[in-house]
Amino acid sequence: MKKKVIIDCDVGVDDALALIQAFHAAELEVMAVTGVNGNVPIEKVMINIEKVLSLLQAPYQPMIARGADRPLQESLVHTPSVHGEDGLGRAEIKRREGAEWWQTWPGPADGLLTRMARQYPNELTLIAIGPLTNLALGLRKDAEGMNKLREVVIMGGAVRTRGNITPYAEFNFFIDPLAAAKVLESGLPITLVPLDVTHQVFLNAQIIEERVRPINNSLSQFVIDATGYNPVNHQFRGGSKTFYLHDPLAVGAVIDPDLMSKEKLALHVETEGGKRYGQVRELTAGKGPQSLEVCLRANKEKFLEIFLSSLEG
Ligand code: RIB
Ligand code: CA
Repeated sequence: MKKKVIIDCDVGVDDALALIQAFHAAELEVMAVTGVNGNVPIEKVMINIEKVLSLLQAPYQPMIARGADRPLQESLVHTPSVHGEDGLGRAEIKRREGAEWWQTWPGPADGLLTRMARQYPNELTLIAIGPLTNLALGLRKDAEGMNKLREVVIMGGAVRTRGNITPYAEFNFFIDPLAAAKVLESGLPITLVPLDVTHQVFLNAQIIEERVRPINNSLSQFVIDATGYNPVNHQFRGGSKTFYLHDPLAVGAVIDPDLMSKEKLALHVETEGGKRYGQVRELTAGKGPQSLEVCLRANKEKFLEIFLSSLEG
């Protein structure tokens, strides 16, 4: 039986790689893709979702829905340095006019999340790989519906490691810490995939040259273009020697949960302004609204093979 999933994303490059992995996983059926403001503004996120679905030409038409264009708390910050101005780097993908590789939901994304959770009670896994604004809106409007989700896998937070947008905060939680706080204290069956574990999985020059480039198809070329890999200096966009696979690892945790070593932790998200805005803090065990499963280690070799095999189509 395939796992039914919805992916809530802010397509940027690693979100795009996560979509490719999810649609090519025999274990998953991607029912819907919802967009949220994050790496780039929502208009670009929705264009990028359509571009990736055009590239993928999935054998079935997933529903897509446009979500929040701003966080619950105003702080519009985007990341062109990592994802490029358009959110997909140099990758040239034509959004296929006419050949619709998706169906468009007429309402907001949060309404699609709760409607599908009610349509498939205790069957649907929500994979959230952007800021959690859509999930918080879903909880505000129909908490009962959201609680029919089987599992919620979230890429976000930095628990026992430095942040990546500030020294304290991870990007998805920094963009909308109020939404993150509401989701984490909601009682939803959450599995968190924080930077602590996503920093263990990455592409580098050796993987690109020895494992990605030889695949030699449109998906492998997309990885090279979208990450801005430069074969001369062996660097990715922004001058980094590694490209972290944050969002693909969250999908990996659904494809094969045994990839992950987890701990039950009670967490707090800092929503007050100041230098620790968006920071995740561990609460003394037993305190805090609820404990959630936090992935702290991954079988990175096994995950990398899962990711690379998804590029072979
Ligand atoms: O901190 C990494 C996360 O922020 C990833 O989801 C990336 O796409 C950005 O949204
Ligand atoms: Ca993302």
